[in-house]
Amino acid sequence: MNELLLSDTAKALVDDDKGLLAMDESTPTCNKRFAKLGIPQDEEARRAYREWIVTTPGLGESISGAILYDETIRQQKKDGTPFLKVLTDAGIIPGIKVDTGAKDMAGHPGEKITEGLDGLRDRLKEYFQMGARFAKWRAVIVIGDGLPSRSGLEANAHALARYAALCQEAGLVPVVEPEVLMEGDHTLGCCLKVTEEALRNVFIQLNCQRVMLEGMILKPNMVLPGLGCPQQASVEEVADATVQCFLRTVPAAVPGIAFLSGGQSGELASARLNAMNVRFKSRVPWALAFSFARAIQQPALEIWQGKEANVSAAQKALNHRAQCNRAARRGEYTAAMEKTGS
Ligand code: 13P
Repeated sequence: MNELLLSDTAKALVDDDKGLLAMDESTPTCNKRFAKLGIPQDEEARRAYREWIVTTPGLGESISGAILYDETIRQQKKDGTPFLKVLTDAGIIPGIKVDTGAKDMAGHPGEKITEGLDGLRDRLKEYFQMGARFAKWRAVIVIGDGLPSRSGLEANAHALARYAALCQEAGLVPVVEPEVLMEGDHTLGCCLKVTEEALRNVFIQLNCQRVMLEGMILKPNMVLPGLGCPQQASVEEVADATVQCFLRTVPAAVPGIAFLSGGQSGELASARLNAMNVRFKSRVPWALAFSFARAIQQPALEIWQGKEANVSAAQKALNHRAQCNRAARRGEYTAAMEKTGS
């Protein structure tokens, strides 16, 4: 294991108050988002979408790494320049989603287990040779009646740890993503309990599989009440519950916690990340960063609408959200930033 390469990459991913852009929607997910906006659901539309994202002027000022999908990592700009070159020229580290999706878990109605371990060693080798330096695997945890089960949490944590160990063997920093979903009417306290339990399982398994904590990034959900919970929480309550959860479960050797957005609006995700950094940045051992997909891309996608004429406005919107999140890492995000668009 190249420990120095792994810890240097992990540090670089959360350095300088930057964060990750998750642009790794699978083809079905990307097509679903396109369909809602009447954008053609074909390879050329997906390529064009990813081209304007990676060529967004100034993106490297707030984005340290971009997570790609297998189709995207092999694609090029219209002029033939590989996306990988565009990203590295902009100072953005390329990463790759390597799981093959969350499937129904046998014997566990309502629960999911993520697949993709078979053949993973060879795929990781190829991605490293192509230039990727980190990878992502997402486990999905559902809160419901009697859910998650202990065996569901254990199986997902075990798969995450097997993936992480293989990544480190290949020189890729594993981004370990156990996502507790927002769907449901559970309380903030319930999400705290489940997220804590999920993370406890994840770090037990990471240790069992001999994963080097200095060479990984954790990508968790924020601790939030369910979307259907009548008692919603303030930005500060979310910040406190989320950091309390990590202080109890995430070892100090982990260099960074890069949140997923999970369907929160761009503004709320920035405000909550900002509150965490305002209240805790100087007191926690890890960087509190971001690895957002929807909370960075969605407003820009809605502006683009699949039309060339809208590309420049869409790029501005994308860069704006990325900059808001960099400001949030510094505890300097304000609602006024949304009005000025800067
Ligand atoms: P969201 O930020 O849209 O939740 O996506 C993050 C991600 O990478 C999901 O795997």
